[in-house]
Amino acid sequence: MTRSPILSVRDAARHYQSGETVIRALDGVSFDVFPGELVGIVGPSGSGKSTMLLIAGLLELPTGGCVAFEGEIVSRPGGSIAGLRDFRRRKIGFVFQKANLIPFLTAAENVALVLQIDDVPAAAARLHAERLLAALGLGERLDNRPARLSGGEQQRVAIARALANDPPLLLADEPTAALDSVRGRQVMELFRTIADVRQAGIVVVTHDNRSLDLFDRLVEFSDGRIVAVTDNRPAARPASRPGAA
Ligand SMILES: Nc1ncnc2c1ncn2[C@@H]1O[C@H](COP(=O)(O)OP(=O)(O)OP(=O)(O)O)[C@@H](O)[C@H]1O
Ligand SMILES: [Mg+2]
Repeated sequence: MTRSPILSVRDAARHYQSGETVIRALDGVSFDVFPGELVGIVGPSGSGKSTMLLIAGLLELPTGGCVAFEGEIVSRPGGSIAGLRDFRRRKIGFVFQKANLIPFLTAAENVALVLQIDDVPAAAARLHAERLLAALGLGERLDNRPARLSGGEQQRVAIARALANDPPLLLADEPTAALDSVRGRQVMELFRTIADVRQAGIVVVTHDNRSLDLFDRLVEFSDGRIVAVTDNRPAARPASRPGAA
């Protein structure tokens, strides 16, 4: 197979100075994410999972190693985070534990806003937002404000927002932590479908053991390091299901 990775993290470190001591939140981590791959990051609290996403997501610079996109190094120690902002906006969608929607905007407006910030005209942004939300099963919820949506629906709006400008990489930090098991499973299945259908690379930090079967690869962290990588493409896992996203 000659695919090349969308994201390559190489020997990445993130050390924090705390008085006399150095906290090695991330301590020499390497991995790749390929288009269409759903990668799970697991490990105990404090093992560096969220730090990994901050570094991979170009929200923080590594203190060692580097991060490359499509083979090109974009982030390394001493670089400029501000200089990465546009690149990040085009290339990476983020989903967090809480949907963090703007409360006074409707579902469609929350999604369209992202596009309008990117200078897409309002009518086109609205149309794209409606299509995306409909594809995620929220066609009946376009004009609802977040307070009128369930937690799972809010999280799907957040996913639609992250997908609005069609980024090749999606990063999610415990996106199902605030959901019950049924809704959590639905959100994880949605990530699976997005990886399959859009061929996005997706990295999800999760504590939810019930959906691990959906992932292609599980990367286990401990003390800022990768301690195990499990290839998880079981023959049993259904092949891509075209449809939703
Ligand atoms: N800005 C910071 N300054 C100092 N230490 C930090 C900072 N951010 C994270 N850490 C430390 O780095 C380690 C890794 O933190 P991180 O948030 O990445 O863990 P995590 O695996 O996401 O944990 P959780 O499962 O609880 O979310 C922890 O010991 C944390 O206290
Ligand atoms: Mg975390």
